Amino acid sequence: MISMDSSENIVKEFKEHSISEFFKKNRQMLGYSSMIKSLVTVVHEYVTNSLDACEDAEILPNISVKLNRAGDNKYIVIISDNGPGIPKQIIGKALAMILAGTKFHRNVQQRGQQGIGAAGCTLFAQTTTGKPIRAISGLENGRAFSCSIGIDTMHNKPIINDIIDLKDIPRGLTIEGEFAMVKYDTSDHSVLEYLKRTALSNPHAQIVFIDPDGKEFSFLRSVDKIPEKPKAAKLHPLGLSVNDLLEEAHSSKEDMISTFLSNNFSRFSQGKVNELKELLPNINISKKPKELQWNESEMIVDAFKKMKWISPETAHIIPIGHAQIELTLKNILNPEFMHVIERKPKVFKGGFPFIVEAAIAYGGNAGKQLEEGYTGNILRFANRVPLLFDSGNCAITEAVRSIQWKRYNIDMDVQPVSVFVNISSVHIPYSGVGKESVSQEEEIIEEIKLAVMDAARGLQHFIHNKEKLSMYANKYKTIMRYTGQLSKDLASLTGKKPDEIRSTLEKIVAKHYSLESNVNDNKTQNATEEDIERETDFKESAD
Ligand SMILES: Nc1ncnc2c1ncn2[C@@H]1O[C@H](COP(=O)(O)OP(=O)(O)O)[C@@H](O)[C@H]1O
Ligand SMILES: [Mg+2]
Repeated sequence: MISMDSSENIVKEFKEHSISEFFKKNRQMLGYSSMIKSLVTVVHEYVTNSLDACEDAEILPNISVKLNRAGDNKYIVIISDNGPGIPKQIIGKALAMILAGTKFHRNVQQRGQQGIGAAGCTLFAQTTTGKPIRAISGLENGRAFSCSIGIDTMHNKPIINDIIDLKDIPRGLTIEGEFAMVKYDTSDHSVLEYLKRTALSNPHAQIVFIDPDGKEFSFLRSVDKIPEKPKAAKLHPLGLSVNDLLEEAHSSKEDMISTFLSNNFSRFSQGKVNELKELLPNINISKKPKELQWNESEMIVDAFKKMKWISPETAHIIPIGHAQIELTLKNILNPEFMHVIERKPKVFKGGFPFIVEAAIAYGGNAGKQLEEGYTGNILRFANRVPLLFDSGNCAITEAVRSIQWKRYNIDMDVQPVSVFVNISSVHIPYSGVGKESVSQEEEIIEEIKLAVMDAARGLQHFIHNKEKLSMYANKYKTIMRYTGQLSKDLASLTGKKPDEIRSTLEKIVAKHYSLESNVNDNKTQNATEEDIERETDFKESAD
């Protein structure tokens, strides 16, 4: 039993907290856990925002990232882009108010979704160094300003200071922040690796990185084409939960549930409205959507599952593209071999379309170089964003690991192989708020597996040919070693000039082990063998 005193205590102790306070205490949820990961998270949040903003404004992105040491486990991060900048009246909310942004409400395929990233960085800077961030914003209309931005965590509100109007500033946003409890290294989980992979999945972007020692790394753009701008997608009825439907209905201005359904959801024809009416005669779908009740929403969502639907539209999913992936792999990994696969759109959980692209690169800078050789690596991407952490929980890792690589004569442990997988969707099902891995949906795993297996087949063929080539090359070398002695012996037997015999012999051997014809085409190989036989017969009889 709770005594009067303790219940009063509960009332006294009861307090409300803002979302900023929550993330201040739980920053690991946003990717701020280990020091190395925290630095990558900061860079990731700003770079994804720059890419999103540039693409939204149809600008080819030029992004620069600079890290300066500022003390023990302390760095100044300076990130600039040539995007549209952020107007004065919203810059505070954009960069220092958690859950504020231009993307959450849109239903468009973009990297950012929740409006957490930039404010999360400001919060992290402030809670580790006590300092606000500084922004310089150059707008399309030629106006520019700079200001410092902190965050009032109690109220999840921005604190803006030192606003200075500026002249002659190029268009774009520059953010400078000091962060402590961060560490720079050059491992697989580093800022450099993150940016390299970002360049791989964004061939239209130019990214320059200056590391803490002042060393510059430039990832030049491989294509001059801005990716097609994704359109807002309507939700498919099979992707709706009871709560989604109810919330959408309650915020709708339509007069009737029937028109609300047909105007707001994908594939909802008049025929489907009639079908629903027949399935649920007790629900009045001519009433206002605002009047929809929870139990009615439940019945409707159940009915949707019984109805047959055309698959969701896929026009609003923009993959990287076959040719672009090839160009960028060539540009950045310069592999000996690559095979790119772009699959057709598929659907998970009935209502969410997605597209998988996969590629295998072999040789060159593919794979991971170890002291004693190479090992394969998996390059995971979701909507072109590299996923560096939490690989064990990711659908991509799961799919790649479940492939029987031996069947393809590929050994991921010792070969210089990179497996590249990008999933594009308006609704990437991430495993957590930090968006570090893709949740293991069966349909997604299956689709990745098929794509990677297809790419693996290409590599299998290449390795097979390569082995054959090297076998022929070895045989060629061995046999060539005997041509000298053999031509001398034949010369003394026949009285012909040894040089002539040697040159004929060498031609025969070269033709027989002519690498391309032997490897790529069996028919050519047979023909060559016959040719050689004929040629040998002819020579012998002539002698
Ligand atoms: N580099 C930038 N250029 C223009 N606008 C930006 C930039 N960075 C952030 N923004 C704006 O700030 C908003 C908040 O960013 P963020 O907190 O990362 O959330 P999200 O990216 O999920 O929308 C974005 O939606 C965008 O409107
Ligand atoms: Mg963002």
